[in-house]
Amino acid sequence: MSIRPIVLAAGKGTRMRSALPKVLHRLAGRPLLVHVLDTVAELAPVGVTVVVGHGADAVKACVADETGHRPEWATQTEQLGTGHAVRMALDTLGDDEIALITYGDVPLTRVDTYRALVDAANDSTLGLLTLEAVEPTGYGRILREAGAIVGIVEQKDASAEQLTITEVNAGVIAIRGKHLKSLLGKIGNDNAQGEYYLTDIVGLAVEDGLEIKAVHPGSNHEVDGVNSRHQLARLERLHQLDIAEELMSLGATLADPARVDVRGKLVTGQDVLIDVNVVFEGSCTLGDGVSIGPNCVLRNARVGAGTVVRAHTTIEDSSVGENASIGPYARLRPGTQLGDSTHIGNFVETKNTLLGNGSKVNHLSYVGDSSIGTKVNIGAGTIFCNYDGANKHQTTIEDDVFVGSNTALVAPLTIATGATIGAGSTISQDVPAGKLALTRARQRMLDWIRPVKSVK
Ligand code: UD1
Ligand code: CA
Repeated sequence: MSIRPIVLAAGKGTRMRSALPKVLHRLAGRPLLVHVLDTVAELAPVGVTVVVGHGADAVKACVADETGHRPEWATQTEQLGTGHAVRMALDTLGDDEIALITYGDVPLTRVDTYRALVDAANDSTLGLLTLEAVEPTGYGRILREAGAIVGIVEQKDASAEQLTITEVNAGVIAIRGKHLKSLLGKIGNDNAQGEYYLTDIVGLAVEDGLEIKAVHPGSNHEVDGVNSRHQLARLERLHQLDIAEELMSLGATLADPARVDVRGKLVTGQDVLIDVNVVFEGSCTLGDGVSIGPNCVLRNARVGAGTVVRAHTTIEDSSVGENASIGPYARLRPGTQLGDSTHIGNFVETKNTLLGNGSKVNHLSYVGDSSIGTKVNIGAGTIFCNYDGANKHQTTIEDDVFVGSNTALVAPLTIATGATIGAGSTISQDVPAGKLALTRARQRMLDWIRPVKSVK
């Protein structure tokens, strides 16, 4: 079956009070529209059509820059209603394709729900997503006669009696292309809002002898749209709670399921422990038994089994081996690769660095553009001077090197196996294996009388 999602995203989103088009506001780190595009892609559609209007250029640019999706774009210059919006997309729709009409501001609909809808649409039927709403205000109400759906009436057009109906239209419809085209040709805008309502095709379809098959979502927030920042925040929390539940069922302990945010994809092993206020971005993997302390931010990070990441650590585009100890207050910047049983302590910043198994940088250091062997100890306050003001240079430190505290290592530089650097040195020449290198003024002992405070 050929499926073509048509995503409506032309609306302004006035209630967001934002310069950004509504569908570009982010939920779990991704623009609302991208959630929809990601989900419908799982249906392996023949193509996807997105109807844009307000902020069209920004919407197109965002999808092109941030995603691999290449939908067909249809433009609706004036927002004359959902029916009119779908009309703008009809050129892209084949007669035998099943159109799946969705909204770009309804981010959390599951692919199973879409699939059920698509399956409900054929030559003689139309699939309609409906639900029992606790608070039906604002939604179109489902009209039934003798149990069968016969139409939809919008909130603003409904009679007092119709307003008491609690079965509502979620807004998603699946219908064969040729039916959609003929039905959309018949709708008008003679209603309370002066709009072309997509929902009018339902009553018209029934008149044409089509049967309306209702499909229900797995949970109500699957169909919740975002019209305000309040709704966005509410959906974000619901979504994060879903992710937290999933992580727990896969064997992770969360100190507080309400205080972890996953903005991307997080894969966790068994017996992972995640403390409060941890943010995961991009694609992150935590091995078995990993513990993440409070207030950490991980972005595109891989952390090996048994590693402990302590409080207030940030890890970006980096990997950590097994049984390592990172933080508190560590900052691993892009290109950091730490081996097994490594230690990175407080106020240590690393970047583009390989650190071999068992090596330690425990306190107050900057380690950049370097390759460091195994069992190396980098003392407190060591700075890798990798930048000469114009270019970056590489430092190589071989196995078993000991670097004393408060040392400046001026790159390019190689320190060979087993060498020792005396504390307080500025090292700018290569150090041979096994040597002690130091650049330190000799200590002198002078006779001296310490000044005392003058008495007034
Ligand atoms: C619509 C349905 C209503 C349903 C509700 C569910 C219609 C007439 N009504 O109402 O039955 O209960 O959704 O949320 O369809 N859009 C365009 N161009 C337009 C108008 C809208 O692209 O000209 C887009 C909007 O950006 C939005 C979506 O379509 O993403 C829904 O439009 P909106 O005006 O919010 O419809 P509702 O009044 O919520
Ligand atoms: Ca809406």
